[in-house]
Amino acid sequence: NAMLQWQRTGFHFQPQKNWMNDPNGPVYYKGWYHLFYQYNPDGAIWGNKIAWGHAVSRDLVHWRHLPLAMVPDQWYDINGVWTGSATTLPDGRLAMLYTGSTNESVQVQCLAVPSDPADPLLTNWTKYEGNPVLLPPPAIGPKDFRDPTTAWFDPSDRTWRIVIGSKDPHHAGIAVVYRTKDFVHFDLLPGLLHRVERTGMWECIDFYPVGTRGKGAGNGIDMSDAISENGVVGDVVHVMKASMDDDRHDYYALGHYDAAANAWTPLDPEKDVGIGLRYDWGKFYASKTFYDPAKRRRVLWGWVGETDSERADVAKGWASLQSIPRTVLFDTKTGTNLLQWPVEEVDTLRTNSTDLSGITIDHGSVFPLNLHRATQLDIVAEFEVDRHAVMALNEADVGYNCSTSGGAASRGALGPFGLLVLADKHLREQTAVYFYVAKGLDGGLTTHFCQDESRSSSANDIVKRVVGSALPVLDGETLALRVLVDHSIVETFAQGGRSTATSRVYPTEAIYANAGVYLFNNATAARVTAKTLVVHEMDSSYNHDYL
Ligand code: FRU
Repeated sequence: NAMLQWQRTGFHFQPQKNWMNDPNGPVYYKGWYHLFYQYNPDGAIWGNKIAWGHAVSRDLVHWRHLPLAMVPDQWYDINGVWTGSATTLPDGRLAMLYTGSTNESVQVQCLAVPSDPADPLLTNWTKYEGNPVLLPPPAIGPKDFRDPTTAWFDPSDRTWRIVIGSKDPHHAGIAVVYRTKDFVHFDLLPGLLHRVERTGMWECIDFYPVGTRGKGAGNGIDMSDAISENGVVGDVVHVMKASMDDDRHDYYALGHYDAAANAWTPLDPEKDVGIGLRYDWGKFYASKTFYDPAKRRRVLWGWVGETDSERADVAKGWASLQSIPRTVLFDTKTGTNLLQWPVEEVDTLRTNSTDLSGITIDHGSVFPLNLHRATQLDIVAEFEVDRHAVMALNEADVGYNCSTSGGAASRGALGPFGLLVLADKHLREQTAVYFYVAKGLDGGLTTHFCQDESRSSSANDIVKRVVGSALPVLDGETLALRVLVDHSIVETFAQGGRSTATSRVYPTEAIYANAGVYLFNNATAARVTAKTLVVHEMDSSYNHDYL
């Protein structure tokens, strides 16, 4: 079926077939980037035989699929080789810790190492003969103990630390820390690294430093490099991320890590883990970062699931994508959030570029872009709202919220405006990526960044929402979007990566040559100028036959 075939991506990572979920153990080893992932070799749905899929790349863009790295074949992981993380030891060796679901479905932590450390492709893995190395402690439920982080070295006592997520009997999400010398014997540290009321099970915790000033703010930092014998080094804050099993979003917060006290505290208690910032407002879960020593950056991967029906997934024979790998930095301008941006290698896929900068769109109008092809794109846009209209407006517009608004069709004085992608020529199908500027009672402006999936497909077995949030915009900044369109995914970075939204979309008409891009301005009062508008066509990354 041509429509189902069309949904496969050109430059987002996916296996050749079957089900995928979380990214696992991302690491750079002897010149190769490794991506492992939760994979069901038996079909396009999740199951109790989850294995580790494996692919390698020289540049995070072109991937070569390798055989399964680990399969459930031991009593301690017979119900699934679940999520885990890689640690690079000072001598270059690797330790892979993962969660095994045992023959009794108890969640235990296990160790695996490369069978041949000289093989840069890390094709074969050996599970430690003494597995499991960690059982759920008495106070923790046997099914609430999973997804160990990358370890870091604490020089104060010369031991390694890992974090594991769980929940307590009061339904608070918790992060527990273990100490180990050898990745085989572990001690539970007293206290909790962190706990947040009512947030439920924390899956796939990630914990890492970002530089806040000077040179360190422009690079990534390896976890072990941010800690000295006297504790955490200066000009660093620690990001804590947890994947909330209750609402299926990845939440993060910035905070201070006190290694000696085994405690992390958020900078802003109102924006704590699970109640504040999200990595992405759309479909994005169970993400994980790794430190890339080759380019001295921290790179984030996230699982982008399907929002169509299980039946459709079975029909097409596959389910899920990985997000574009994203570099993660502290936003030194706002001081309140991270910046996420596609790794620079993504730019190497740009081919035909069309520069349409300078187009002004009147309020209440739509402007078609004349493009050759519109199914694999990297769109860079910057908008300016007519200042006179903003000044002249003397009504306040309060209480806007992307998810409860009517989306791109509901009109205000200063928005919505932006782009319609994967749109057919009648605009029956379209995914809208837009800003909505609202004037407050005090005359101040709040900018919302939203992505409207509600008309993305005329099929009716699909979850369609309007996602997004209010977004910090500083004085003098234009409103910026970078939209990656890749068949069935629209992955957008707003305001240099202060906010992101990822949608899975399943057009039925706006496919192949019928897919187009439009500028739109549905504001009632303001003209908008696309000060920058450059549309790059994207090459396929030949996922399936590279090398
Ligand atoms: C997150 C998760 C993890 C678990 C894995 C199982 O999506 O539920 O907590 O280890 O997936 O596939």
